[in-house]
Amino acid sequence: MRLNLGILVSGSGTNLQSILDAVQQGRLDADVRVVVSNRPGAYALERAAQAGVETRVLDHREFESREAFDRALVQLLRAAQVEWVVLAGFMRVLTPELLHAFPGRVLNIHPSLLPAFPGVNGPGQAFEYGVKVAGCTVHFVDEGVDAGPIIAQRAVPVLEVDDAESLRKRILQQEHELYVEVLQALSEERVTIQPSSGGRARVRIAPPSRRQ
Ligand code: GRF
Repeated sequence: MRLNLGILVSGSGTNLQSILDAVQQGRLDADVRVVVSNRPGAYALERAAQAGVETRVLDHREFESREAFDRALVQLLRAAQVEWVVLAGFMRVLTPELLHAFPGRVLNIHPSLLPAFPGVNGPGQAFEYGVKVAGCTVHFVDEGVDAGPIIAQRAVPVLEVDDAESLRKRILQQEHELYVEVLQALSEERVTIQPSSGGRARVRIAPPSRRQ
């Protein structure tokens, strides 16, 4: 099943780039319908334009509330026939206005092994804390910050020679692979959400079938 993606960005867009590359190289069965930035100068917009993808800027400072911003976003995404909303370095907390419009279809990537180190600068927080294993997480988005059911994670060892910046870069490389892997699993309908006894949803990814 080809995924119709709307990708939301605020910054440099290296995760966006890895998704665009995977689509272009036929490793990801998806159509990036639109890339939306809340920041007018985001470099991610240039990456999208280079790939021939429609770009839109929705400047949050022009809206009176988070809800009003999200309503405009929903309108824009629906007009572009988006079915899955992919956050790729999007620095806004979403409200129910958007989450209810795309129930169970909003994904985020975060540069830590959640639930550790949510919020800004996950790699820096992990480094300062002194953990020996850091990493990244792809999860479904709910109303919390970097909360929502975890879909997949990658561990990244913290090396003796690391500083916060070198750790951030190695995590980012893993993010690029992990996001594409999860999106492709979604397109192959291998991702299922099951309720668990603890009340939190448990996400399973079935292995790819041999034919794929
Ligand atoms: C990534 O580390 C992502 O996990 C976080 O924001 C960063 C975005 O980087 N949510 P980029 O814009 O994809 O390069």
